[in-house]
Amino acid sequence: MSKDKIITWLGERFDLGKIQELIGKQVNKPLPKNIGWLHTLGSMSLFLFVSQVITGILLLIYYRATVNEAFESIKFIMTKPYLGWLYRQVHAWGANLMIMVVFLHMLRTFFMGSFKKPRELTWVLGVFLFIFTLIFGFTGYLLPWNQLAYWATTVGTEIAGAVPIIGEWIKVFLRGGTSVGGETLSRFFVVHVIILPWLVFFMIGVHLLLVRMQGISTMERVDEEKKLQMGEGTPFFPHHILKEGIVFYLLIGILITLSILMPFELGEKADPLQTPHAIKPEWYFLPMYQVLKYLPKLLGILILGIAPLLLIVWPFLDKTKARHPGKRPVSVGIGITMVILIIIFGLLGYWAESKRIIFGKEYEFDVYGKPHRIFHETKK
Ligand code: HEM
Repeated sequence: MSKDKIITWLGERFDLGKIQELIGKQVNKPLPKNIGWLHTLGSMSLFLFVSQVITGILLLIYYRATVNEAFESIKFIMTKPYLGWLYRQVHAWGANLMIMVVFLHMLRTFFMGSFKKPRELTWVLGVFLFIFTLIFGFTGYLLPWNQLAYWATTVGTEIAGAVPIIGEWIKVFLRGGTSVGGETLSRFFVVHVIILPWLVFFMIGVHLLLVRMQGISTMERVDEEKKLQMGEGTPFFPHHILKEGIVFYLLIGILITLSILMPFELGEKADPLQTPHAIKPEWYFLPMYQVLKYLPKLLGILILGIAPLLLIVWPFLDKTKARHPGKRPVSVGIGITMVILIIIFGLLGYWAESKRIIFGKEYEFDVYGKPHRIFHETKK
């Protein structure tokens, strides 16, 4: 059948003109002149989400969420099915990259003041998307049912137990019992493969709808921002789409290269009777985990509980009109301080409870990340 015949056939059934007009309007939508590479971080987050869904579906074909089969099923995926090793690695690396990219996208919109009027709700939805991306990581980490995952989940859920009054209830609810076991695995599995994907899917949909309706923010003051008319600014197609195509291409390359050169090891199967030496969460939880070590339990939980709330209400606290980072010294200062603190606590958490050789000298880092020099006795 020729192309014209298909178009005529469809045209007799649907108003193709209207659909064409709608697509044309979206494709030619003008973007502000200041739009650059940093504005591809949002679409990179979307790309990684889609990649996670595709590789996740492939993993689901052979994955089994039971204590007896989970570890073996991942081992099977890594060795037997065609390209099984690749889609498992791309999923694991994709999760890490997605957390990093969503975080960078959040920083971009924070420092460029994009969260200000009228985009407060886009930001609020974004904060929830960030939190859900972290929960994606937390729940997915347990699924291979290996030692690292088992003990990281035990410690992670233990922290919830420190919340006053309802803490014990939350802990038992998360674990599905008093300790991490088969019940925890099924719960995390359901959250990871059903609840979160659909929730995040719809939330991204609304997030993007808002972005499309309000347009990408300019660097002008809130009270001076004008809506761009057709023909002004830079058209979405082909200018910005080309940039997005390039970053998607690079992302595919990065995912495959990392999967081949630095594959995630499966390690040993979970053993509830054997506690490993140093239990640590994934890198993206390390800063929070480390902060908790220096503070009294209740204060730590309080601070970590307030942080996401503060992020959510930030557009309603910072009502200044300027968007340009150079004209917002206070909020930019707060943002930079937070980023530096996150990096410092993350590094301390990474070093904690490990031995390292620095400039030829051996050090042992204690739980707080403080180095202690190791001197070896020499035999006489
Ligand atoms: C899965 C997670 C997310 C996806 C897929 C996503 C996607 C996008 C896309 C494609 C854009 C338009 C292009 C751009 O500005 O980069 C955008 C804009 C925006 N996003 Fe996100 N986003 C996510 C998470 C977040 C987070 C965590 C925040 C902040 C807490 C956030 C806040 C915003 C804001 C305020 C805008 C408007 C930017 C402007 O008008 O300049 N988003 N998002």
